[in-house]
Amino acid sequence: MLRFSGVNVLLTGAASGIGRATALRLAGEGAAVFGVDRDPTGLDEVVRSAAGMPGRIVTGLADITDEADVVRTVDAAADQLGGIDVLVNVAGTHRTTPIETLSVEDLRFVYEVNLIGTALFCREALRHLPDHAGVIVNVASTAATQGNPYMTAYAASKGAVLGFSLSLAAELAGRGIRVVPVSPGQVATPLTAASVPEGLDMRYYGRIVSPMGAAEPDQLAGAIAFAASRDASYMTGAELRVDGGSRI
Ligand SMILES: NC(=O)c1ccc[n+]([C@@H]2O[C@H](COP(=O)([O-])OP(=O)(O)OC[C@H]3O[C@@H](n4cnc5c(N)ncnc54)[C@H](O)[C@@H]3O)[C@@H](O)[C@H]2O)c1
Repeated sequence: MLRFSGVNVLLTGAASGIGRATALRLAGEGAAVFGVDRDPTGLDEVVRSAAGMPGRIVTGLADITDEADVVRTVDAAADQLGGIDVLVNVAGTHRTTPIETLSVEDLRFVYEVNLIGTALFCREALRHLPDHAGVIVNVASTAATQGNPYMTAYAASKGAVLGFSLSLAAELAGRGIRVVPVSPGQVATPLTAASVPEGLDMRYYGRIVSPMGAAEPDQLAGAIAFAASRDASYMTGAELRVDGGSRI
């Protein structure tokens, strides 16, 4: 029996990195996945990669910061899958922001994608998630609770995702809908491949690298799949850190 047979999953950020790996992991375990992203090429690739798997992946193009787009996308997902059991918010963005040059636009940009996009998907998906079975997994970051230089805007937005998720878990406990924030440490994806601008003091930058080095996206996919599965049925409102021992 596959762990996600008969389970419908709406997942953002499906075109790349952790989201792509998670969509493939869930389809490999039998899920029907509606993958959302703003990158059509990446979405085509993930659909091709899922060929022959026990589950399936269909996709929808959307900008998660656009409220009308989110409402339309969630309804399209529920329609095409025949309901939504699990929401996984993976889409996110990062900017290196030394405090001297931090702009209002930097702050708005990372908040719009990381917090507002996640919050909108939660609100809209909750029109469809079943009581006593629905699950929301939101990807936060260890940056939410651990100081990293040049990440003030990003860290604040991920702190917001973490706080949002813990409060949502409390609000939904009566409905029996679980909410699990998952916080990765450093993961080898296009997000982290961008070079750090020259001239920055890198003395404290090393703390984002864990004793186990950077994770592969599939190592996060396994943890997200666990949090979304019945194996985690007693887990809600607790941060799941997947960080290779960053606090050792
Ligand atoms: N890579 C890491 O080290 C790391 C560490 C901690 C947390 N995270 C978080 O994990 C999540 C996935 O990151 P990743 O490393 O796989 O990055 P990635 O860049 O490989 O993937 C992010 C995906 O989100 C999509 N996206 C971004 N903005 C969007 C928008 N407005 N509308 C629709 N889609 C949008 C991108 O197109 C991309 O496909 C993010 O939330 C990120 O903050 C990553």
